[in-house]
Amino acid sequence: MPTDLALGIHDLSFSTTSLALSHDELSRHNGTDLAKYHRGIGQRAMSVPTADEDIVTMAAAAAAPIVRRHGADRIRTLVLATETSVDQSKAAGIYVHKLLGLHPHVRVVEVKQACYGATAGLQFATALVHRDPDQQVLVIASDVSRYDLDSPGEATQGAAATALLVSADPALVELDRPSGLFTTDVMDFWRPNYRSTALVNGKESVAAYLEAVEGAWRDYSAQGGLPLEEFRAFCYHQPYTRMAFKAHRQLLETCGVPADEAAVERALAATTAYNETVGNSYTASLYLALAALLESEHDLTGQALGLFSYGSGSVAEFFAGRVRPGYQEHLRRDAHREAVDRRRAIDYGTYRELHERTLPTDGGRHDLPHQTQGPFRLAGVRDHQRVYEAA
Ligand code: HMG
Repeated sequence: MPTDLALGIHDLSFSTTSLALSHDELSRHNGTDLAKYHRGIGQRAMSVPTADEDIVTMAAAAAAPIVRRHGADRIRTLVLATETSVDQSKAAGIYVHKLLGLHPHVRVVEVKQACYGATAGLQFATALVHRDPDQQVLVIASDVSRYDLDSPGEATQGAAATALLVSADPALVELDRPSGLFTTDVMDFWRPNYRSTALVNGKESVAAYLEAVEGAWRDYSAQGGLPLEEFRAFCYHQPYTRMAFKAHRQLLETCGVPADEAAVERALAATTAYNETVGNSYTASLYLALAALLESEHDLTGQALGLFSYGSGSVAEFFAGRVRPGYQEHLRRDAHREAVDRRRAIDYGTYRELHERTLPTDGGRHDLPHQTQGPFRLAGVRDHQRVYEAA
């Protein structure tokens, strides 16, 4: 097997929902100072799914442009990472496989570890491509984050899907070999099977995330990773965008480097454009940060990027990627901006109604209203089965 083969992200596409609730509207409802949202947590809006949107419709919408551009012949694995699973047995990726019209010779699996899942998928994918460089792997992260109404977490909700095509000789980002890992059993954020909203120990979750930054970095260094000064920019999991800034200060402290705020800003500012308006998209969030960075005005050719993935519970990974020459020709800047800009702003009452909705569980036939602007929809549930269709 070749050892010097470049492996990594060949294409990246994301989708989000058709609706958005702004933090202006949320603060009008709950009286919170808007500056707490805009400056304190760094959030301006959150994506809200319509009744006929879910992780499957978002995942298929994110992946469809990749299949259109590259064809599907070489895709032999589809990994869908989510913590908003729609079934305890069947992998949501099988619905996506059908909506995308993929051939049957594909292994389809779902992976879960809170917001870390997609990174696990990405690492598994590079191993599969290393084994057979003619194959490509579609790794899709898709999540809807939901907290209780009027809870501190409510302002950090969101929804999106990112699709990554992993291949040899990638057009966007080549992944380096060393990875720093950090796992510890902590109850900072979790969602028991009987709940549709997450439970969270907010302050503990922030501390757990920061501890994981230090732990993953120390392991990354021990594994022979690049020194801090080699990195041009850093993408962090962004449950809210200011968390990335806390994380980076933690990394600098771990390395014994004084936190110069202008340098922190320079290293992170270009990574927040999508997450500040989409909200926490859990496992998709890190890759929305990467999309924002690659699509920024900076020329990153040949530069090393640090990526930090964190999933509560918790598992974290620090790894590096190097931006490939010519990457800018393969970006999807216009489509991504349109996906964010075309969302319809909703008022608090509409948001609350959608938040409280649940799908019927009586096994009857229930058709859902056509509300999405996206290419795929959940048409309804019949005999306990979800029915998806092209919109
Ligand atoms: P909170 O109690 O609403 O807010 O909880 P706060 O009082 O801590 O304030 C937040 C920040 O706003 C603070 O800044 C305040 O000073 C500032 P900081 O001290 O952090 O630098 N602030 C203001 N700034 C300007 N003007 C003002 C003002 N007022 C306050 N007027 C919390 C915040 C994040 C805990 C809450 O939103 C929450 O519980 N969120 C959900 C959990 C979460 O996102 N945790 C992050 C780490 S865990 C993670 O990333 C994993 C996760 O994605 C799940 C997964 O892995 O699946 C969540």
